[in-house]
Amino acid sequence: MKTFSTYKFQSSGKTAINRIVLAPMTNGQSNEDGTLGDDEYNWLVRRAKEGFGIIITCASNVSEEGKGWKGELGIYADKHIEGLTRLVKGIKLYNSLAIVQVFHGGARSPESVTGKQPWSASAHSMNSPQGTIEIREGNETEILKVISDFVAATKRAHTAGFDGVELHGAHGYLLQ
Ligand SMILES: Cc1cc2nc3c(=O)[nH]c(=O)nc-3n(C[C@H](O)[C@H](O)[C@H](O)COP(=O)(O)O)c2cc1C
Repeated sequence: MKTFSTYKFQSSGKTAINRIVLAPMTNGQSNEDGTLGDDEYNWLVRRAKEGFGIIITCASNVSEEGKGWKGELGIYADKHIEGLTRLVKGIKLYNSLAIVQVFHGGARSPESVTGKQPWSASAHSMNSPQGTIEIREGNETEILKVISDFVAATKRAHTAGFDGVELHGAHGYLLQ
């Protein structure tokens, strides 16, 4: 059984101590400005301590306007690097690999969270418990900005010491 044997990634040369991976799970445990919350830190580092070979964080937003919910971990600004670095160090204390999941909420970034009308690839409306939400079509400038936001977020992940990033493109988020 290979579950508990190491796994070496050919592209990076990094080795996971086993093949057990923590699925990305959003718990809304970070601070209002997207900096790492202590609960988020404790939850993820405890999973490393318990032996997961790879830890994937919750979804973290690459653009401020791409925030999907309160308590979301942010990676859209340099102010987030300090907390992200602390998180990576905590995870690596137990020799797990650390992956940060990155996303932009797109149609699922509600105005109640961002203060802005959500946008996506096309204009459409969506039903929610709060009523109908009107989503507008993004323009070329916004699309180019988001592409550079994904690049900048990935560079921040690298600076913080993460072993990789995972792109989140489900649930009507922008990449989907
Ligand atoms: C509380 C909770 C939060 C989740 N948050 C995310 C997330 O941020 N990103 C993601 O890709 N999946 C998220 N998921 C989905 C899980 O990563 C996983 O794919 C899903 O639970 C199915 O796996 P399972 O069959 O082992 O439960 C979340 C699931 C749960 C239960």
